[in-house]
Amino acid sequence: MLIAVIIVPSGSEYDMKRIKGEIFLPGDKSISHRAVMLSSIAGGTTEIENFLFCEDCLATVNAFRQMGIKIIAKRRAPRTASLRGRQSAERKIIVYGRGLRGLTSPSQPLYLGNSGTSMRLLAGILSGQNFSAKLEGDSSLSKRPMQRIIIPLKLMGADIKGKNGYPPLTIKGKKELKAIRYKIPVASAQVKSAILLAGLYAEGETELTEIAKTRDHSERMLKLFGADIKTKGLKCRIKPSPLSSPGKIKIPGDISSAAFFIIGATILTGSHLVLKNVGLNPTRTGIIDVLKRMGGKIQATRYPERQAYGAGTPHATRQNNFEPVGDIIVQASQLKGIEIKGKIIPRLIDEIPVLMVAACFAKGETRIKDIGELRKKEVDRIYSLCYNLKRMGAKIKEKKKEVAIKGVQRLKGKRLNSFGDHRTAMALAIAGLKAEGRTIIENSDCIKTSFPDFRKKLNELTRIANK
Ligand code: S3P
Repeated sequence: MLIAVIIVPSGSEYDMKRIKGEIFLPGDKSISHRAVMLSSIAGGTTEIENFLFCEDCLATVNAFRQMGIKIIAKRRAPRTASLRGRQSAERKIIVYGRGLRGLTSPSQPLYLGNSGTSMRLLAGILSGQNFSAKLEGDSSLSKRPMQRIIIPLKLMGADIKGKNGYPPLTIKGKKELKAIRYKIPVASAQVKSAILLAGLYAEGETELTEIAKTRDHSERMLKLFGADIKTKGLKCRIKPSPLSSPGKIKIPGDISSAAFFIIGATILTGSHLVLKNVGLNPTRTGIIDVLKRMGGKIQATRYPERQAYGAGTPHATRQNNFEPVGDIIVQASQLKGIEIKGKIIPRLIDEIPVLMVAACFAKGETRIKDIGELRKKEVDRIYSLCYNLKRMGAKIKEKKKEVAIKGVQRLKGKRLNSFGDHRTAMALAIAGLKAEGRTIIENSDCIKTSFPDFRKKLNELTRIANK
């Protein structure tokens, strides 16, 4: 097995490393998945700009191709050399939608690799088809709980089976589902989205109540595609309705990917970073709020709607209500420890690994509570971070659903293991940048699942800073 490593050089130049410059983030992973899915089951052709070409999203693309959807990828580097690194490359896909009933039976099982979003959301769509399909994943995905979607989808009348509540999933086609009223017992956008997508195929109005507000990209995009969906607070209602393509969708930069650079720039003395075109959906911006509370110098400025999505297109009004986008400016700052818990957690769930790194360099103690869901991600991220950061000299106490991190100001470079999890690997790379000595991260190939250009971007920004 090939073990890829990221080596973060350090040593005598301790405290000299900085992150400086401007960065365009690749497209948001959650939104990219949803854009492929809705475009495939909508009428019309959709051009998806700034699509995230990562393994997870490509798993979704391949699944729809296997179900008869034509999807063309167009990738081009920025036109002039001077723009390279400053401007995002053209990363577009074109999806030829076939309507709600246009998918065809796949001849092979749909292999979704590491991607929980692909599996859970697809299960919602497949529950309403008139053919059968099997959904499989890699060894990590095969250990992720599926009961959370199997229960509500069965209530809707779906014929869905897992292996003791885990993948693979077998879904037998059912022409008509029935609407349900359901209180989702976990704070999970994937569960909510699976039910909403099944709701497109159900007779009657499906009504969901969340226990805490989670990312609302599905709701926003369903509206953009003309679905009959209403949201209010923690409630959401959807009626079966055909979808129509908005023509073009521009995917905002991924704030979860931005978070690695945001924290890097915050903890590395002398850093100054401008992040362009970042998604600023309030259900995702918990990291900005928390960093501000910790004393971080960070500012987000939303673009006027027109700039983000261009008026004058046939769907300008719908597009303008889609996802907020803007710039983030961050400067190096001394953080202080705080307590983070409750309803902010779903707003920064994927950023907690790198936030734990930041907490190691804060003054005082940071407590992060209510994070039991982190143990159910691609790996148990409480364990993967505690294990590695402790090896580097961090002072962390771990409980079932919380961590307490005492700021130590200095970490030591070590040989670390991502345990095959992309966010663990990238968070550790940021810790390695600030650490004394050399850090080697084994098993870092997994970064491709969400951010194939991570290493390149990080090199660019640290090179510019240290010129
Ligand atoms: C996601 C929802 C979250 C998040 C994941 C992406 C989505 O998972 O952690 O990376 O795209 O809906 P849960 O729904 O399991 O919380």
